[in-house]
Amino acid sequence: MTTKSQQLLNWVDERFPLTSTWKAHLSEYYAPKNFNFWYFFGSLALLVLVIQILTGIFLVMHYKPDASLNASGIPVAFASVEYIMREVPGGWLIRYLHSTGASAFFIVVYLHMFRGLLYGSYRKPRELIWIFGTLIFLALMAEAFMGYLLPWGQMSFWGAQVIVNLFSAIPVIGPDLSVVIRGDFVVSDATLNRFFSFHVIAVPLVLIGLVVAHIVALHEVGSNNPDGVEIKKKKDANGIPLDGIPFHPYYTVKDIVGVVGFLIFFSAIVFFAPEGGGYFLEYNNFIPADPLKTPPHIAPVWYFTPFYSILRAVTYPLFGIDAKFWGVVAMGAAVVIIAFLPWLDRSPVKSIRYKGGLFKGILAVFIVSFFILGYLGVLPPTPGRTLVAQICSVIYFAFFLAMPWYSKIDKCQPEPDRVTFK
Ligand code: HEM
Repeated sequence: MTTKSQQLLNWVDERFPLTSTWKAHLSEYYAPKNFNFWYFFGSLALLVLVIQILTGIFLVMHYKPDASLNASGIPVAFASVEYIMREVPGGWLIRYLHSTGASAFFIVVYLHMFRGLLYGSYRKPRELIWIFGTLIFLALMAEAFMGYLLPWGQMSFWGAQVIVNLFSAIPVIGPDLSVVIRGDFVVSDATLNRFFSFHVIAVPLVLIGLVVAHIVALHEVGSNNPDGVEIKKKKDANGIPLDGIPFHPYYTVKDIVGVVGFLIFFSAIVFFAPEGGGYFLEYNNFIPADPLKTPPHIAPVWYFTPFYSILRAVTYPLFGIDAKFWGVVAMGAAVVIIAFLPWLDRSPVKSIRYKGGLFKGILAVFIVSFFILGYLGVLPPTPGRTLVAQICSVIYFAFFLAMPWYSKIDKCQPEPDRVTFK
């Protein structure tokens, strides 16, 4: 560094912890040297978060949250999205980046969570990273749900109608609660305005705060790795983990490889299949919202469908309370239970690499039933499908609730002393 730039840096450092922050979180943050591709998804989730915020800022410049009809009889909100798509220079790209970004966010986050399951990243001392992660997942679901109302298409309207109506099944407070959420007795302009407000400012602020907390907690305890071995247990004379390498430049460079791979995949969808075969943008949502015309089949976007299937799988009333209420409880519990994983897993080892056949087999069954639930959620229910969804829902909860038992009796191999690295 030249003396001038060193002097400038010193000036800043005396007033703001720039160099020490850079060192603590990048150049002297020692990450295990055996990260594999599964470790791309955290930084990819950060990338998608930035894409969503940037494209969102430009969308808000032209979008109008207004349910009233324009001179052509089209809702203003719907027409403003069409205006972005057809008239605003580059508007189509910004909009498709944002709508595809929503699905990409969930793909990346689901893979990121699955990595945690594979390598036991939620186990002590990383419980808080995991809890912040579950809260991020909840916030992300709220963000996506409210964002989907904004184009004011048929699916936006009727999807919101179905989901907000679920709250009315809660005994005593339910009917009033759903009015409070909608701001009206039906989904209306008031609902659109409050969802807009939550989608563009309230929930993103919460999300950013949670992501910061998530990373601060991670950097406090250090990263796990595919062997599940704690690298902090073996340090050299300078206190540096023997199996650790500085995050910068090693993983900043490695993450660029992940970013390039992701952007190839992402651009292929944005430029060639932005509707994602009707899964990323549902075909019914190209029709303006019509409160008088219920679509024959209302399905949420793919990332909600496993949980939606669990909701629909509950068909029995209990304690004199409607099945719909228990469906809502089951759907909520299906997300909340994820937060308890650190205390449910009693295995002597963290990583799947050293776990026994029992854990691996049960994890495989869990994943298959999660996919089946996801698939069933996009289809209209039939008695046969409901039965399959009920079986898969039981498997979903059993995976978590029986974990203290099967993770304990599973025949594991001993964890190595040091990470394995070829
Ligand atoms: C906006 C969403 C999210 C962002 C931006 C994010 C970001 C990150 C980053 C940058 C890392 C470090 C790199 C890596 O290990 O891949 C990380 C680690 C981690 N994340 Fe997330 N994350 C998000 C959501 C979640 C969710 C939903 C969960 C789980 C419910 C989760 C659980 C974890 C865990 C357990 C680790 C530590 C992994 C290890 O050390 O092996 N994250 N996250």
